[in-house]
Amino acid sequence: MSHAAAFPTTPVGTSGPAVAARATGLSKVYGQGDTRVTALDSVSVEFRRAEFTAIMGPSGSGKSTLMHCMAGLDTISSGSTQIGDVELGSLGDRQLTRLRRDRIGFIFQAFNLLPTLTALENITLPMDIAGRKPDQQWLEMVVGTVGLSGRLSHRPSQLSGGQQQRVAVARALTAKPEIIFADEPTGNLDSRSGAELLGFLRESVQALQQTIVMVTHDPVAASYADRVIFLADGRIVDEMREPTADAVLDRMKRFDAKGRTS
Ligand SMILES: Nc1ncnc2c1ncn2[C@@H]1O[C@H](COP(=O)(O)OP(=O)(O)OP(=O)(O)O)[C@@H](O)[C@H]1O
Ligand SMILES: [Mg+2]
Repeated sequence: MSHAAAFPTTPVGTSGPAVAARATGLSKVYGQGDTRVTALDSVSVEFRRAEFTAIMGPSGSGKSTLMHCMAGLDTISSGSTQIGDVELGSLGDRQLTRLRRDRIGFIFQAFNLLPTLTALENITLPMDIAGRKPDQQWLEMVVGTVGLSGRLSHRPSQLSGGQQQRVAVARALTAKPEIIFADEPTGNLDSRSGAELLGFLRESVQALQQTIVMVTHDPVAASYADRVIFLADGRIVDEMREPTADAVLDRMKRFDAKGRTS
């Protein structure tokens, strides 16, 4: 299936720097004393514009923490994070809020939909807050692709888990942000809906130069990406370019055999 003909011709953020987001020596420590957890241990990574990166690793390895820190949704303990050439640590609260709103799309592991709003209102909420009008044609295409056309006036409680996830995906895509962080966006979808969504993400990278960073546990989902980064115990332990599902699965088996490093 191809959406290419209907894709808008104006790419996302072509004038910005080649690196869409960067972490340098990023560490994140939660708690103190007995409850102290080093969720990220001096992570340095770059996400280039128009690249689709998958992040994999065992549960608790720091994947969500990395995405939250890089998107300015959580504070960091040391190191630095940048979106484009803006250092997040240099921003005040209001500037950070504005940057997140205008330049970043986030698909949360828990979908974070507002229960009192309909699916459509949830999708357009970030743009409504920003006082921007969604591109109607693009909105319709996103909604159609994620299969929500008949559900736009439903509230989250009236939607299945997979449908709620698709609302969260549509919300991130609709504003055409410079970079999208997606935390297991296909985790609640059947394989056909998942494949359709992944194909769409892949195409938005190719046709729109969208930058996407996606956490997944699924080797098939990872194979849609240009590269895979493997995390274990808060560190990057490996990287793979042009991944295939088999190669990713192989790498994951080695994780299981060796277990965690500490
Ligand atoms: N708010 C918090 N307070 C204390 N510890 C936390 C907090 N959030 C995460 N952690 C800890 O940090 C580590 C990394 O968590 P994170 O959510 O990033 O893992 P993950 O790789 O996304 O796992 P999963 O695949 O299960 O989603 C875990 O050990 C977790 O218990
Ligand atoms: Mg997580």
